[in-house]
Amino acid sequence: MTFDDLKARAASTDNIADLFISEPDRLSRMAHRIGPIRADFSKQRVSLDDLEALLALADAKHVKEWRAKLFAGEPINVSEGRAVMHTALRGVGGEAVADEVTAMRARIAVFSNDIRASGKFDDIVHIGIGGSDLGPRLVADGFAATLTASPRLHFANNVDGASVNDALAGLDPKRTLVIVVSKSFGTQETKMNAESVRDWLAQAGCSPRDHVLAVSANRDRAIAFGIHSDNIFDFWDWVGGRYSVWSAVGLSLAIAYGPDAFSQMLDGAAAMDRHFRDAPLKQNIPVLMALIGVWNRNALGYDSLAVIPYSRRLRKFSAFLQQLEMESNGKSFGRDGKPAGLTCPVIWGDEGTNGQHAFFQWLHQGTGPNGRGGAPVDFVAVLADHEGRPEHHRALLANCFAQSKALMMGKSEAVVRKENSDRADIDSLAPQKMFPGNRPSTTLTLDELTPSAIGYLIALYEHKAFVQGVLWGVNSFDQWGVELGKVLADTILTELERREIGDHDPSTKALIRLAC
Ligand code: F6P
Repeated sequence: MTFDDLKARAASTDNIADLFISEPDRLSRMAHRIGPIRADFSKQRVSLDDLEALLALADAKHVKEWRAKLFAGEPINVSEGRAVMHTALRGVGGEAVADEVTAMRARIAVFSNDIRASGKFDDIVHIGIGGSDLGPRLVADGFAATLTASPRLHFANNVDGASVNDALAGLDPKRTLVIVVSKSFGTQETKMNAESVRDWLAQAGCSPRDHVLAVSANRDRAIAFGIHSDNIFDFWDWVGGRYSVWSAVGLSLAIAYGPDAFSQMLDGAAAMDRHFRDAPLKQNIPVLMALIGVWNRNALGYDSLAVIPYSRRLRKFSAFLQQLEMESNGKSFGRDGKPAGLTCPVIWGDEGTNGQHAFFQWLHQGTGPNGRGGAPVDFVAVLADHEGRPEHHRALLANCFAQSKALMMGKSEAVVRKENSDRADIDSLAPQKMFPGNRPSTTLTLDELTPSAIGYLIALYEHKAFVQGVLWGVNSFDQWGVELGKVLADTILTELERREIGDHDPSTKALIRLAC
């Protein structure tokens, strides 16, 4: 089975609504549950036969073998010569590092409990960017569905001074704990924000020894920066930044929401790991999600995926997935150095229902590649109401379920004509008011937004990204594409500081001149 075979199949692809008639057991075969998550793939534009073809592709691309390598801790990040063992942080696979992980989890738990019991801090400022920020920020919001942060948690990520200003606004330095999170401890944004916060503490006479912690895989750099070695929590080069929320990168979560919540999240992720490792591919939710994503991308030709959480507490999910999926699989060349063909689509989205009043017009009626409009959607909904407002929650769910139905069913021109038969301009109006439908979506429902369910959800998408990387033949664990801009920014920063304009193209020179 090849991508070309899939494309040929897709040329005669069916109408989703009709598939429910021709495939009476479609729902039971395409909806799967693991723990608190139910994944309904039945509104995807893929027939059960197509699914068989996709499973054959998984075999042809050796998904099972790569999955075994992942859990065995083999150095599958070939371009950096590293193993990929984020599942070991949850206690699954990577036996070689199990003792270190257990020790780190114990240190996080003891330390977090001590800080919480001490009552010394009202606020935590978590400084980091990318993988050292997006996961903790997503999870902090998610935990807030069922827990209250104490100390309160603030994030400084962007190098824009507004980020650190917002994070520090109204805080008392004497009652603030600062956690600097950087795998490399060389990231410009994080170092600059850490310096500014260090100055802020110093102006209030607060010693970094009592107020600043670091989480890093580069202890030497953290020490050189001035962090006391006792205040450093290590993590390892076998944890990719975008897969690191399970490590000490999540320390601020453990302190603010308690180590039990943090452990429950890891346990939820571990349950998803075991499902991914052990379930037959046919019923394996991350594998099916990855295969359907590849179908949408490589067979149907969609170039983006909208992820719409109908949960305000998950509103950062699409931003989190932008790094997880696009930094992992946004690549043009495979592990073998050969062109990879079409890989990761653009991931985008916002919380529902807000998105309905913004970009849903485009999802329903917009144009798209290959004459197929809009984009596939992943809807994510939480069944339980955590806000004590059942009437709001029912409306939220009703909107979510209505949107996936509307995208699939559409509204025919004939119906529009009937409804507007009194209009003189019906010929021009009818096409504008009709909905083509047949637009694919997946709906994920979580029973509750508990820490455990959050663990399941994030791990699901991690494994989806892994499987897609295997199918596309790319290394999902490096990110060379972020380097060039970083190097150029350093050069231009020096020029701005010295007011000297170097050798650039005319446009870049003019921009630098504006800022000098
Ligand atoms: O954006 C590039 C990147 O290297 C990400 O992969 C990483 O998560 C982020 O920068 C932050 O890196 P660090 O944790 O080393 O500061």
